Amino acid sequence: MPPTNKVPRGFDLTFKNRIAETAKAKESNIVLALDFPFEKPENRHILYRKAERVLGAVNPYICAVKFNHHLVLPLGTFNGVQKLVRKAHEKGLLAMMDCKVNDIGSTNQIMAEYYYEAGFDALIANPFVGWEEGLKPVFEVAQKLHKGVVLLVYMSHKGASEGYGQTVVDAETGRKTPQYILFARKALKWGADGVVVGATCPEKICKVCEVLGRKIPVYSPGVGAQGGEIELALKAGADYLIVGRAITFSENPAESAKNIRNIAKRFKC
Ligand code: XMP
Repeated sequence: MPPTNKVPRGFDLTFKNRIAETAKAKESNIVLALDFPFEKPENRHILYRKAERVLGAVNPYICAVKFNHHLVLPLGTFNGVQKLVRKAHEKGLLAMMDCKVNDIGSTNQIMAEYYYEAGFDALIANPFVGWEEGLKPVFEVAQKLHKGVVLLVYMSHKGASEGYGQTVVDAETGRKTPQYILFARKALKWGADGVVVGATCPEKICKVCEVLGRKIPVYSPGVGAQGGEIELALKAGADYLIVGRAITFSENPAESAKNIRNIAKRFKC
């Protein structure tokens, strides 16, 4: 079943299942982060063409495309990015929006409604804002529209240790617990479609997988440009690798994507 924006009647595959099916069909667990360097706004047509070209070249080796502010800010959500989302769908790929939803509930809800309306199959949200008047409305919209929510659990950059890595007192048990472990538990409780844990910290991937018990997949950004290693991330339990610059900045994006996909296949599929 090719991924489309609309789920047919009686067909109730969650994002979690749709991406698993797509990854299986395409024999790839690579999510392309379609990111490019800054261009002057008057040159944004160059960005659109670059994105179109990379997507065209790389699509046989990936299962999904992740968009970020790199394209949404210069191209706009509707027209520019929406056209690329449609192209991704036409090529049998799923589309994720890395907007890291992180505001009060009413604002989060509007973000989710616009991004889902633009055709995104899932978005990334930040559990730091909590459930009530935080992410609850996002999960409700997602459920209504058969879309996905993927939660940040431990980010890939060094400063992640200051927030996601801090030790806090678990309000339910009274025990000192790492923040990211609590976020992994919340991902289960809230019914998230996935969690993000940086490939730069495979030991955290391992610990998160112990909490998740394979009920929710782990998305891991940070291989290549940020120094994470494919083998370590996958052996630690990551299900999908999010890869940007190692592909989009490459002289031959298709070749780079194929190589990364082939290395990943050795350690996963
Ligand atoms: P690179 O070029 O480093 O791009 O391969 C990675 C992409 O993923 C984003 N990123 C993250 N997104 N949680 C996320 O939700 C993270 O921990 C994280 N680390 C990197 C980054 O913005 C880029 O689009």
